[in-house]
Amino acid sequence: MTRVLITSALPYINGIKHLGNLVGSMLPADVYARYQRQRGREVLCLCATDEHGTPAELAALEAGQSVEDYCAEQHEIQKEIGAKFGLSWDHWGRSSNPPNHELTQHFADKLAENGFIEEKTIAQVYSIDDGRFLPDRYIIGTCPHCGYDRARGDQCENCTRVLDPTDLVEPRSAVSGSSNLEVRESKHLYLKQSALVDELRAWIDSKKDWPPLVSSIAYKWLDEGLQDRGITRDLKWGIPVSHDGKWPGFEDKVFYVWFDAPIEYIACGKEWSDAAPAGETRDWKSWWYGEAADDVRYVQFMGKDNVPFHTVGFPATLIGSREPWKRVDVIKGFNYLNYYGGKYSTSQKRGVFMDQALDILPADYWRYYLMANAPEGSDVSFTWDHFATVVNKDLADVLGNFVNRILKFARSRFDGKVPEGGVPGDNEAELEKEVAVRLKAYTEFLEELQFRKAFGELRAIWAAGNEYLTKAAPWAVFKEDKDKAAVGVRTGINLIRLFALLSAPVIPATSDRLRKALGIDTEPLAWPSDDIAAELSVLKPGTPFEVPDVMFRKIEDDDVAAWIERFGGEPEQEREPAT
Ligand code: 2FM
Ligand code: ZN
Repeated sequence: MTRVLITSALPYINGIKHLGNLVGSMLPADVYARYQRQRGREVLCLCATDEHGTPAELAALEAGQSVEDYCAEQHEIQKEIGAKFGLSWDHWGRSSNPPNHELTQHFADKLAENGFIEEKTIAQVYSIDDGRFLPDRYIIGTCPHCGYDRARGDQCENCTRVLDPTDLVEPRSAVSGSSNLEVRESKHLYLKQSALVDELRAWIDSKKDWPPLVSSIAYKWLDEGLQDRGITRDLKWGIPVSHDGKWPGFEDKVFYVWFDAPIEYIACGKEWSDAAPAGETRDWKSWWYGEAADDVRYVQFMGKDNVPFHTVGFPATLIGSREPWKRVDVIKGFNYLNYYGGKYSTSQKRGVFMDQALDILPADYWRYYLMANAPEGSDVSFTWDHFATVVNKDLADVLGNFVNRILKFARSRFDGKVPEGGVPGDNEAELEKEVAVRLKAYTEFLEELQFRKAFGELRAIWAAGNEYLTKAAPWAVFKEDKDKAAVGVRTGINLIRLFALLSAPVIPATSDRLRKALGIDTEPLAWPSDDIAAELSVLKPGTPFEVPDVMFRKIEDDDVAAWIERFGGEPEQEREPAT
C-alpha cells in the first residue's frame, strides 16, 4: 500500500470548535498525515464542515442569520482557525456543496434499487406552539436509558446511545422550551440496516487491528440488535429527498444529517478534484472506487460518540449500494478530553476553544500537549496546572533549552559554524544506540496510531540528547580538548536537525524554525533513516547556523491564575454532560 487516505470527523458548522473536538479528530488526523507525507507516501487528507441538520439550523437561529449565510461565514472562520493550528488538509470542503447533494441522492437511489429502503409512516413529535415537527436536536428530554435530563432527540451525550425523539421522557422543544407537543404522522425513508447485519458483522470481524474502544462500540451496536434508521427529516435546510422526478411526496423533506455527512468524505474528494489548479489532474475516484483504490489505506479519526455512525451507519450505506466504494481500513476513536472533570461543551461554552487557545499561546504548545496526552485509553482531564507542567518541562526545559544551549555555545566558541575536529567516541556510540531503539519504537507507535506512546518516545529522544550533552559537556572540555568539544557541539547541532525532522508531525512550526536556523528549511522534509550515526553527521563542519530566539516560553504561576480566572477551573460538584 502506498497511498494513505485520511479523514477526520467533520466538525459541525455551529461555531468554533473546542480543544476536545480538536484532539478527538482533526489534530491526530493532521499529525498522521504529516507523518505519512514525511515517509514519502502519497496522502489525501480531507475534512469539511458538517452543515446540515438541527445543529446548523439552531445555531443560525441563535445568530439571527439565514442558515445559508451562517454556514458560509462559519465555514471560512473554521478554515482560518484550522490553518492557524497548522491543520494541513488537502481539501476543506462543505457538506452542503453540490457534489454531496449528487452523491447523497445517488446512494439513496442505489439503496432503494437494492431493496434497502423502506417507506414508513411514523409518529413524529410536533410542537403546536412552534408550528413545526421537532426532529433530533429540536427536542430535548430525559434519556430513557440513563436518566440524563438533557438528552437530545438524536443521541444521549451521557451514555452515547442513539435515540429517536419519541424515546425521550418529558420532552420539550429546544426552540421555545414548550412542552405543548403532540404526535403527528409523517412519512419517512428508513435504511434497512437489519437486512445488512450479517454483512456488517463479517466486515467488522475482519478488522482485527481496530482499537478495542472502536470494536467494542461496534459490537455493542450489533449485539443489541441493529435497528433500521430513519434517513429523512422534516426540515427545510439539507439535501432534498425528491430529485429528478424521484421520491414524489417527499418534497418537504431532506436527508438526515447523519446520512449525508459521512458521504461528504467522498464528496470532499470530488471537491478536491474539482479544485485542481490548471495543469494538475486529480482523480478523486481512484482514491474511493473499485480496483483503482486497492492500494489505498483509509484511516478515519473521530471521538467515541461518532464511532457507531462510522462502524455501522455509513458502512451500511456503502455495502447496501452494491457498488465497490472504498471502506475504512482503520478507525481511530478517541475518548473525551474533559475540562476539570466536566465535559467540554460548545452549547454551554465550557472549556477552551481553538481561537481562545491561539490568543494565549502559539499552536505548537497546544498541539504537543494535546497529542502527548491524547485521550486514548480513557477520558482525560485538562487542567491549566497540568498544561503548564507539560509545556515547561517537555517543551521549554527539554527541547527548547537543548537548542539554545548548544547553539549559543557554538556561536560564541566556534564562530557560528558547525565545528570540525575530533572523532566520535563512547558517548556518541551510546547516544546512537539509544536513539536508534527509540526511533524504531516512535515510528512503530505512529504507524499504529498510538499517539501517547509515540510522543513519549519523542520526548525520550529529546531527553537522550540532553543527557548526551551533559556527559559530553563541550563547555567543560573546551579549554583542554577543543577537538572533543567540537565533537560534542557537532553532534549536538546534528541532534537539533534530527529533532526537527522527528518533531515535525506534531510541532510543525517549531520544526520549521529549527530547520531555518540550520539552513535546511528548503530541503524536502524526509523521515530519518535508522542509521543514526549517518543522521548525526549530515551537517558537515563549516555549515553556518543561526541562533533562534527562545523556542518556548515558560508558563508562570501568574499565567495559570489568569487563565483559571478567565476560563474557570474549579471542578464543579456535579457536571452535566454536554456537547
Ligand atoms: O459529531 C460531530 O461533530 C459530527 N459533525 C461528525 C460528523 S462525522 C461525518 F460523518 F461526517
Ligand atoms: Zn443516556
